[in-house]
Amino acid sequence: MKVDVLLGLQWGDEGKGKIVDVLAPQYQVVARFQGGPNAGHTLEFDGFKHVLHQIPSGIFRSDIKNIIGNGLVLDPIVLKKEIEGLDKFNLPIHKNLFISKKAAVILPTHRLLDAAYEQSKGAAKIGSTLRGIGPTYQDKVARQGLRMGDILSPDFHTKYNRLVEQHKVILSFYNFDYETALPEAEKAFFEAAEFLKQYTFVDSEYLVNEALETGQSVLAEGAQGSLLDIDFGSYPFVTSSTTTTAGACTGLGIAPQRIGEVYGIFKAYCTRVGSGPFPTELLDEVGERMRQEGREFGSTTGRPRRCGWMDLPALKYAIMINGVTQLVMMKVDVLNIFEEIKVCTHYQLADSTLTDKFPYDLCDYEVTPVYKTFKGWATSLENLHTYDEVPVELAAYIEFLETELKLPISFISTGPDREAIIHREAQAV
Ligand code: GDP
Ligand code: IMO
Ligand code: MG
Repeated sequence: MKVDVLLGLQWGDEGKGKIVDVLAPQYQVVARFQGGPNAGHTLEFDGFKHVLHQIPSGIFRSDIKNIIGNGLVLDPIVLKKEIEGLDKFNLPIHKNLFISKKAAVILPTHRLLDAAYEQSKGAAKIGSTLRGIGPTYQDKVARQGLRMGDILSPDFHTKYNRLVEQHKVILSFYNFDYETALPEAEKAFFEAAEFLKQYTFVDSEYLVNEALETGQSVLAEGAQGSLLDIDFGSYPFVTSSTTTTAGACTGLGIAPQRIGEVYGIFKAYCTRVGSGPFPTELLDEVGERMRQEGREFGSTTGRPRRCGWMDLPALKYAIMINGVTQLVMMKVDVLNIFEEIKVCTHYQLADSTLTDKFPYDLCDYEVTPVYKTFKGWATSLENLHTYDEVPVELAAYIEFLETELKLPISFISTGPDREAIIHREAQAV
């Protein structure tokens, strides 16, 4: 058996949670492989809307194992709250949730360090979610972080104190007040760590590989997006993990030849939260209409998302890095309100040359997007379930994208609900 990977091709919030939920019945295991509580994955069904941060989006299907892989950075306080938030759904979480002992632990001081680093950057700040992601990965790579398995160890408090002493030195260097908030946060942290002991801590690499050996199908759920990847994103305005397909190998302990389908999720336009380059950003009334129509406000922080037209050079780049095999286009209904729809096909560089490649120095030099304009479909897409019912203008837009991207668009999402989806049989492109 192979592991299918589902991940975002833009700057996050593409709608990964919804599609994991839609595809989950085909799988026996859903596993997150990177990121942490910076993620906010929204699921909507039966009139409920629920946002998950660290728990995989298969948790609502009672016969699926949900694994939190070694590649994550986990905040025990957030995880406890998330589990408690699921109480009302009566899910068999004790049976279905598995936490890797190797996942890194976010300490309260990691969150404070995140804030201190951001503050010190002034106008050049990353726009981090301030969930402690960067500092926790820093400690992991520096070989001094805590791992979830440490919670079970008698040395947990000693290891914790050793690291926190170091953090305090750094926080003092930044003149960052930690004394006010820390005692309460530490209390919540140790309570949460104690609470989590009732759940199943595993060597998740064995769990995943044994599932594959026994013929179970596995879906790896990405967080953030490819353009936020630590290596390939718009550095330094990125997150601190490998958000691309390769991250599924290191974040779950699976070999590259085990990767099967790679579902690349993208919006019919673009959004970005936080700072950093965004070539097709619309700072005008069109962008504002997109934001309102798409309810583009962060699922984790509530911040307004920056909005803009579809960016093909960026999308082609993400497809290449990830080895995408099938595309999933989200939020097509948001474009119902526009008479004209634009797609950036190339960037014009400062010396007037055109490129469809993603420039290394995008953060330093502005590029001018070159657009192709499509006629809008200007009609509701509600209750459409087959591709034959799609308005001709939308079909023209989709077929243009498929030709440019050299991949089939297998799913078209037309609303937040689980049911608002058009599944096309495999198309030859
Ligand atoms: P994720 O982080 O990739 O899981 O995406 P988020 O949950 O952060 O953001 C996606 C938002 O779009 C959520 O509020 C979803 O409920 C919503 N959504 C998902 N698919 C669609 C769609 O096809 N149309 C509309 N209008 N909203 C959608
Ligand atoms: P999901 O999984 C959108 C962005 C932040 C910031 C940058 C670094 O819901 O798609 P970090 O807190 O990781 O240090 O922030 O990355 N960011 C996201 N943007 N969706 C996300 O997750 C994000 N996770 C981080 O806004 O610009
Ligand atoms: Mg999100």
